[in-house]
Amino acid sequence: MIASTDPTRGALLRCGPGESIDLARHRALGGFNALRKALAMSPDAVREQVKAANIRGRGGAGFPAGMKWGFLPKDNPKPRYLVINADEGEPGTFKDRYFLEQDPFVLLEGVIISAFAIGAHSAYIYVRGEFVRPIQRLEAAVEELYRAGILGRSVMGSPFALDVVVHPGAGAYICGEESALLESIEGKPGRPRVKPPFPAVVGLFGCPTIINNVETMACVRLVLEHGAERFLAMGLPKDGGPKVYGLSGHVKRPGLYEGPMGLSLRTLIYEYGGGTIDDKPIKGIIPGGSSTPVLRGDQIDVNMDFDSVKAAGSMLGTAAVTVFTEGTCPVAVLTRIARFYAHESCGQCTPCRDGTGWLERLVESIEHGHGRPGDCDLLLSAAGQILGNTICALGDAAAMPVISFVQQFRDDFEEHIRRGACPYGNKPEAH
Ligand SMILES: Cc1cc2nc3c(=O)[nH]c(=O)nc-3n(C[C@H](O)[C@H](O)[C@H](O)COP(=O)(O)O)c2cc1C
Repeated sequence: MIASTDPTRGALLRCGPGESIDLARHRALGGFNALRKALAMSPDAVREQVKAANIRGRGGAGFPAGMKWGFLPKDNPKPRYLVINADEGEPGTFKDRYFLEQDPFVLLEGVIISAFAIGAHSAYIYVRGEFVRPIQRLEAAVEELYRAGILGRSVMGSPFALDVVVHPGAGAYICGEESALLESIEGKPGRPRVKPPFPAVVGLFGCPTIINNVETMACVRLVLEHGAERFLAMGLPKDGGPKVYGLSGHVKRPGLYEGPMGLSLRTLIYEYGGGTIDDKPIKGIIPGGSSTPVLRGDQIDVNMDFDSVKAAGSMLGTAAVTVFTEGTCPVAVLTRIARFYAHESCGQCTPCRDGTGWLERLVESIEHGHGRPGDCDLLLSAAGQILGNTICALGDAAAMPVISFVQQFRDDFEEHIRRGACPYGNKPEAH
């Protein structure tokens, strides 16, 4: 492991901005030691290690990877697939792109170990379509591994065979939802499936499938390299390991940082990120991507792990932190977020298709000075009718920011309605 006091580097982020790790450097840093260890073990034993490490999925929901792998049916004769979610479409989130573009061998080593553990001989990496350069880099890395005998018929001379396909995404946020992603790989429009059955039972091409995030794969590699105990010790006893944090918005040093799971939000913003631009007080913090409920600036003393952020009323999500300072209109921030979700709804179910449009129009009319008394309650009611009532979590992702922004910054919303204008001086914009 690279020991460093520089928070832009660590066990997961092995190189800093503008740098990249090639195959020779990956080997020099101990690359494929974890894979070698895994191949010397039984798949069951690898799965046990991953389960013991309690890796909570880094794609947003925090579901333990080992437990998910345990849902694969034992008596199903169909092939099994491993699918890696690299769609990374959530506004504010930019961590997986790092692995694809700067350090693809960490991801690929994690993929090979995971495929071996679950008994998959084909793995798909579904990458956000706009990531043109990351896709090229990843494809080149996959080709190199075939040439080196690390992918293909005999992985590192073992009897284990694995093919990896890099699949460009279809250009929609919804394709990051795991079952829509499977539809998209199958060549269909990216519309989420009704669950159950869950993909572990009926997934890609009707076969048992495990879907994991890119960073989750990097964590699997770490667990095999250092052991479950050591991995847990890098974070919290029940939520272990290191974590990649994204930091953006009104901070002096935006970017990716690595810290233990459970790093304090204050440390991330003020020590790693250098504090806020012009040292202004913080008005709001979106802790884990645009879908996660907003926190007020005075809620900064929260630890960034799944349970602590939940206890503070929000979600760790992708740990993509967006900060906005005093002087920023929260209604304007929510307008952008609501517009995104209305645009990205796939339209399959009514509460989401109609509801996200309702939310967008209502928030926008308040921001533009056309709000009416009672609109805050109307917003809460409309969002509440979407929450939990849709086929996939995009409906929740649209509703949660609305509910939290109105609850946290209600005075700002009411002031817009009273004045008939944005008190921060924002003018209606054409879009
Ligand atoms: C609308 C929507 C978009 C999503 N986009 C992504 C994404 O881009 N990347 C990702 O890893 N997970 C995304 N997810 C979560 C996935 O459905 C899934 O939970 C995740 O890939 C599982 O990986 P993990 O268990 O390793 O976290 C999205 C979920 C929803 C509802």
